Amino acid sequence: MSERIAPIEQQARAAIVAAQTTQELEAARVRYLGRKAELPNLLRQVAELPAAERAATGKAANEARQRLEQAIEQRMAELAGRELDERLAADRVDVTLPADPLPAIGSLHLLTATWREIEDVFIGLGFNVADGPAVETVYYNFDALNHEITHPARGLTDTFYVSDTVLLRTHTSPVQIRAMERQPPPIYIIVPGRVFRPDSDATHTPQFHQVEGLAVDTDVTLGDLRGTLLTFARGIFGEEREVRLRPHFFPFTEPSVEVDVSCFNCTQGVTADGRRCPLCKGEAWIEILGAGMVDPNVLGHVREYGYDPELVQGFAFGMGIERIAMLKHGVPDLRLLYDNDIRFLEQFG
Ligand code: DAH
Repeated sequence: MSERIAPIEQQARAAIVAAQTTQELEAARVRYLGRKAELPNLLRQVAELPAAERAATGKAANEARQRLEQAIEQRMAELAGRELDERLAADRVDVTLPADPLPAIGSLHLLTATWREIEDVFIGLGFNVADGPAVETVYYNFDALNHEITHPARGLTDTFYVSDTVLLRTHTSPVQIRAMERQPPPIYIIVPGRVFRPDSDATHTPQFHQVEGLAVDTDVTLGDLRGTLLTFARGIFGEEREVRLRPHFFPFTEPSVEVDVSCFNCTQGVTADGRRCPLCKGEAWIEILGAGMVDPNVLGHVREYGYDPELVQGFAFGMGIERIAMLKHGVPDLRLLYDNDIRFLEQFG
C-alpha cells in the first residue's frame, strides 16, 4: 500500500501548483484531501494492515498529508495575495478624472429669456426698468391715456373688469402715467409686465406680456424713436435689420405709428428656395410694435409732476414679448409657450 502514496502526493502537488485561483486550489484540496479522496482513504485503511506494515505506512501517509496541507496553505497565501492585489488595482479610483456629468439643470423659459434680452438692449441705451400693478384702475388704464369714453378697448369683450373702476390691465401703458407721477422729466424707462385680455387662439392667450417704452425730455423727436427702435430691432433680430414706420392710430400718441422690421427669413419676401416667405407672408416686413409721440393730452394728466407739454415731449412704444419670441424662434403657436412641454422648452437652452 505504501507504494501508492508517492504517486498520489506527486499528483496532488502538481494540482496545487497548477491552481491559478483560490477557488481552483480549494477544489484541489477537496479532490486530494477531502473526505472521499484517495489519501485519507488510505489512512483509514492503515488499521487493517498487518502490524509490521502499519506503522511505516501510517507514518508515510500522514507525513504526505501534512506536506500537502502545508503546500496548500502556502499556495493559498500566494494566490489570495495576488487576488487582493488584482482587486485593489481594479477598484482603484482615479480622483483626477472629471466627476459624473451633472444632472440636467434646466434653462430659462423662452419668455423669460426674451424678456431679459429686450431689457438688456434698452438698459444698454440708458433706459431704466419700471414696474406697475397688474390690477389697475380705469383711470390709469384708459382715462389718463386719452381713451375716448366710447373707445372699444374699454368694452367688456376686451377686458377683465374687477369693478366699474378697476380691471386687470389690458396693456403696460398705464405705467407711463404712474412712472411720470413718480419722477420729473427727463424719464427713460421700459416696463415689462403681464397684461390681460379675453382672447384665446393660436396667437392670443388671456394673459400675455408686453414691454412698454417711454422717453420724455426737452428735445425728443420721432427720429429718436426711430433710432431707438432700430437699435432694438438689430439687437434682437440681427445687425442686418431695418425698420420702417407706418402711420397708425393710438389714443395716447400723436402722431402714432406701427413699426415693422425687415424680414430676417427671406429677401424681398422670397425665401432662399424661391417660395413666398411664410414668416412675412411675402411682404418683406414684419410688424413688431406700436409707437408714437406722447400725446400732449397725456402729459396734461401729469403736468403737476413737471411734465408741461409746452416744455417737454417724448415718445412711447409697446410690444408683445410673446410675439417677439415667436417671430425670432419661429414658434408657430403661442400656446406652446404655456403648455410647458419639456420637449419644446429644451430647444431654448
Ligand atoms: N398699448 C398698446 C397696445 O397694447 C401698444 C402701444 C402702442 C404702446 C403705441 C405704446 C404706444 O406706448 O405708443 O396695443
